[in-house]
Amino acid sequence: MSSLSLNGRPVAVDADPSTPLLWVLRDHLQLTGTKFGCGAAQCGACTVHVNGQPTRSCVTPLSAVGDAPVRTIEGIGADRVGAAVQAAWVAHDVAQCGYCQSGQVMAATALLQSTPRPTDAQIDAAMAGQLCRCGTYVRIRAAIHAAAASL
Ligand code: FES
Ligand code: FES
Repeated sequence: MSSLSLNGRPVAVDADPSTPLLWVLRDHLQLTGTKFGCGAAQCGACTVHVNGQPTRSCVTPLSAVGDAPVRTIEGIGADRVGAAVQAAWVAHDVAQCGYCQSGQVMAATALLQSTPRPTDAQIDAAMAGQLCRCGTYVRIRAAIHAAAASL
């Protein structure tokens, strides 16, 4: 049995330590907001925060997390930056199919937590690994600027 600090609460997880965090979240804890895209650290759909850093949960084994705090899309609204990002996402109607969007929100929140007023270039650099097959990139950038302005 492992324990995890998840969205501000301790949780017990009965999973092999080699299990990727993505599957611990989705299959063991039923937190299905974090998505499986490629499973190979290439798309960003599975992005969560570990110790405040955007992290690809599909290639992060449970054993590598230890007692570092984990935050997922289900808990990001409790953070003021995360809440601002979510509000801007709604206001700018960013999502199309939505599949990539929890990862996008997690990456955008991590960016604004470290860089409160990012330039277009900083946004593009921080979000470069977050793929969106629907091509919502222009709205993502606009929403990040709006969230930054609202904070
Ligand atoms: S599912 Fe993890 S990066 Fe694509
Ligand atoms: S909104 Fe469809 S993949 Fe990004």
